Amino acid sequence: MSIHIPRGTQDILPGDVELWQYIEVKAKEVCRTYHYKEIRTPIFEHTELFQRGVGDTTDIVQKEMYTFTDRGDRSMTLRPEGTAGVARSFVEKKMFGNPNQPVKLYYQGPMFRYERPQSGRMRQFVQFGVEAIGSADPAIDAEVLALAMSIYEELGLTDVKLILNSLGDKESRDAHRQALIEHFKPHIQEFCADCQSRLEKNPLRILDCKKDREHPLMQSAPSILDHLNDESKAYFEKVRHLLDQLGIRYEVDPTLVRGLDYYYHTAFEIMADGEGFGAITTLCGGGRYTGLVEDLGGPSTPGIGFAFSIERLIMALKAKGLDKPSVETLDCFIVALGDEAMDKAAKLLYQLRKAGVSCDKDYLDRKMKAQFKAADRYQARYTAILGENELDQGIINVKEMETGKQKEVALTEFIDYMQEQR
Ligand code: HAM
Repeated sequence: MSIHIPRGTQDILPGDVELWQYIEVKAKEVCRTYHYKEIRTPIFEHTELFQRGVGDTTDIVQKEMYTFTDRGDRSMTLRPEGTAGVARSFVEKKMFGNPNQPVKLYYQGPMFRYERPQSGRMRQFVQFGVEAIGSADPAIDAEVLALAMSIYEELGLTDVKLILNSLGDKESRDAHRQALIEHFKPHIQEFCADCQSRLEKNPLRILDCKKDREHPLMQSAPSILDHLNDESKAYFEKVRHLLDQLGIRYEVDPTLVRGLDYYYHTAFEIMADGEGFGAITTLCGGGRYTGLVEDLGGPSTPGIGFAFSIERLIMALKAKGLDKPSVETLDCFIVALGDEAMDKAAKLLYQLRKAGVSCDKDYLDRKMKAQFKAADRYQARYTAILGENELDQGIINVKEMETGKQKEVALTEFIDYMQEQR
């Protein structure tokens, strides 16, 4: 019996991987200009980190985690998201003591959620994320939002929508929470078991329920924006003012609650504009968190960040025909004939590669014609021909494929010559 790839995962082969690399380079470049540095944290963590960090009434923690007991009888979980691990590291590595505050980080890597796979919803997906930890200045919110939007813009996706909401501070959230309980309680029997159990524990999660989305009480649920206290209102206004100043367009949606428990104040999502996209249109999600670092044993420290999956970004790029970055071709293919020439070619390849020239040759003992065909398939910009005659004369015949121009180059000058053609 043959073994298949696990459901909800994918192989990314040459031909597709170039687009991934291109996105990664672009996203990292934007992060560099915003002065964010990369952090790499483990792919598995203690399960408790996510129970505390992401919140144990969330779908992610209740239904979607890949959790296993290791040989030392400890409960471990493949990370479902990146923020909790970064916050853990911030506490453990005492980054709060770093004189450079806020600590501005980005990360990229596989995340795991046991979800029902469909297009844009994978069980293993790659998130690119950013966290700025250590400042409660609304200017950091605007900076992080601008960074996220810049990545999309840099990749040519200019018509994505930024959806913004405020979840308020603790006082505002408590007032909203009370209003939600009063709103849903009389009819809670009409809701699913999860919603029923979340009513008292975390009624905000009801708004995020996938099963009861269409219930009329969802539409009429009290809005957080009506429960913001003056401080939270002012905070939200400042963020909006700064975004306006940068010319970043957004829509305010008071029903945006996000699926994780740690958010306060600013919450946001970036959406694709629908067409050719199916049900899933959220490309990116994020927001501000206040209690996370403290809950993980650090000093009370605010943070804000976002993450998007490269899978969904690629869907958006494909829908817009923006998924064909110029593919790196081969600089040079050496066509060699005879044992001696093949040996020499191996040495030349070694030297060319050291000089930064991408190059290759035949390894299947193919005839000259088949070697030329291989050079064509690889779209080599130059083909260099080395036979017995050339060896005797100490030269190599270099052909520029696009123009068909040929040039005899002394073997002693070949490496320099190819380096100049790059
Ligand atoms: P999230 O909304 O759970 O937030 O996920 C962020 C993004 O990850 C989504 O917008 C989507 O692009 C991608 N994503 C999530 N699940 C899947 C999936 N099953 N398949 C493909 N893509 C997926 C977070 O993870 C937060 N940690 C974001 C954050 C950072 N908040 C503050 N800092």
